[in-house]
Order: sequence, then C-alpha cells, then structure tokens
Amino acid sequence: MLHKDVFEQLMSEEEIEKTVSEIAAKINEDYSDRPLVVVGVLKGSVMFLADLYRKLELDECQLDFMAASSYGSSAVSSGSVRITKDIDCNVKERDVLIVEDILDTGNTLSFIKEHLLEKGAASVRICTLFDKPDRRKKPIKADYTGKVIDDLFIVGYGLDYSERYRNLPYVGVLRSEIYS
Ligand code: IMP
Ligand code: MG
Repeated sequence: MLHKDVFEQLMSEEEIEKTVSEIAAKINEDYSDRPLVVVGVLKGSVMFLADLYRKLELDECQLDFMAASSYGSSAVSSGSVRITKDIDCNVKERDVLIVEDILDTGNTLSFIKEHLLEKGAASVRICTLFDKPDRRKKPIKADYTGKVIDDLFIVGYGLDYSERYRNLPYVGVLRSEIYS
C-alpha cells in the first residue's frame, strides 16, 4: 500500500532494480579500463548509490561523499549552493562520477561539478536517477539518467521532503497539499 501522502507511484521497487542495473551496465562499459572515483551526494543519493555501487564490476572504484545544501526544507530551490561536506580523497587527474538522486534546476550539480574540476579532476561525469529538464536553470546535462520526469515533486528511495519519506522503498509523487 502507498503512503497516505503519496499521490501515485512513479517507480516501483522492481523498476528501480531494473533501472539501476541498466545504468550500472553502461558505467561498467565506459570505465572498464580506467580507475574511477564515485562521489555520492548526501543524503538523497544513498539508496541509489548503495544499489548502483554494488553493481559496479570495476577493478578500481573508490567511494567518497559530498554534501551540499540548496533546498533547505522548502520545495523551492534557493539558487545558492553551499558545500557542507567535502570529499576526503584526492581527485587530481582522476576520473570522477557524481551520483545524485535528482537533477532539478541544476544549481547543486553544476556547483559540485565545477568544484571537483577546480580540484583538478581529469573528468567529471554525472549520474542521476531522475531528471526534471523543464526546471533547469543551469546549462548542465547528466551523462547517465534513470528516468526523465515532468515537473513533479517526488519522494522515496532516498528522496525527501523536509527530511521525510526517504525510507519509502519505491518512488512516488508527493501530494501537492503536503508542500503547498
Ligand atoms: P537543484 O540544485 O535544483 O538541481 O536541486 C537538487 C536537489 O534538490 C536534489 O539533490 C534534491 O535533494 C532536491 N530535489 C529536487 N527535486 C526534488 C524532488 O522532486 N523531490 C525531492 N527532492 C528534490
Ligand atoms: Mg533533498
């Protein structure tokens, strides 16, 4: 049964598993012969990252984390991004893959990507489970995307609204009366 605040299911547990496998297969192909640093963006990406990372069959794929805040607890992006946790490893001359839950306005990911390039990364690619292209404010594209969606507010499988609903095992559309 769906959570009472969820209007409809957008991606079931089975669909998540299939989508993550498809993305992992592409990453395995693209990085088969080069070491990779996987950077998960806390906290929204944790479920996706944990599932994706276990499907990577790469010889060398270091794991690290970053956290940035742009949304606060509101459903409207503020536009300003602040890094609240930086990576611990050295990415100089290394290939980096950022793993994020959703690409929305692009403010967060363009800031993080730029930050990692400034640290001297050889390349920085973006992997996001969801993409809302209609909301984009920055010219940024994901290299790996699970699903392109309309301008809806979604929760579950790591995605939150005001720190709630991250524990739902599926992804659903939040009822608009919850955030309006
Ligand atoms: P951006 O900087 O506007 O691209 O926002 C990215 C961040 O906003 C994501 O990492 C999410 O934490 C959050 N976000 C954007 N859209 C949604 C959504 O539909 N549900 C939950 N969080 C979202
Ligand atoms: Mg969030």
